[in-house]
Amino acid sequence: MLKKKIEDICNRQIEREGFSSNLYLAMASWAETSGYSGVAAWFYVQAEEERIHMLKFIKYMNERGGKAIVPAFKKPASDFKSVDDAFNEVLKHEEFITASINEIVALTLEEKDYNTHNFLQWFVMEQVEEEASVRTILDKVRLLGKDNMYQFDRDIMSLRTPSAKAQPAT
Ligand SMILES: [Fe+2]
Ligand SMILES: [Fe+2]
Repeated sequence: MLKKKIEDICNRQIEREGFSSNLYLAMASWAETSGYSGVAAWFYVQAEEERIHMLKFIKYMNERGGKAIVPAFKKPASDFKSVDDAFNEVLKHEEFITASINEIVALTLEEKDYNTHNFLQWFVMEQVEEEASVRTILDKVRLLGKDNMYQFDRDIMSLRTPSAKAQPAT
């Protein structure tokens, strides 16, 4: 059985992963209607990945005798100032998610829940990759400058780390 404290904090994470998915979906829609089809494609894929993160928590909790709760999500912004601005927001958000995952890791040690601790290791590595990939994108945006957004938009999908890399090696 999943301890109540662990169940609660995992349910909190379900909300955060689901919100991440909606936030990136909102960014995708903004980018698509602002002429950035490449950026939109990047965010659509990212939104799917976050939904998968949420599902991983749901499946894990239910499998361990807990109960995953699907919450209401806060409405994300629908407009962003610029591509640069949106990705700065993504970086801040991913740093928040990393801290959130780390809090759960710390609690699993406190509660001696080694199964959940093990389950979380995939997320720990995933956050390293996500932050690194957003920093690379921000570097490129800076290098190219505001006048070269056409080029950035054309090339952004080539910066995607295949999500397969984040999966445990088989
Ligand atoms: Fe995530
Ligand atoms: Fe993420």
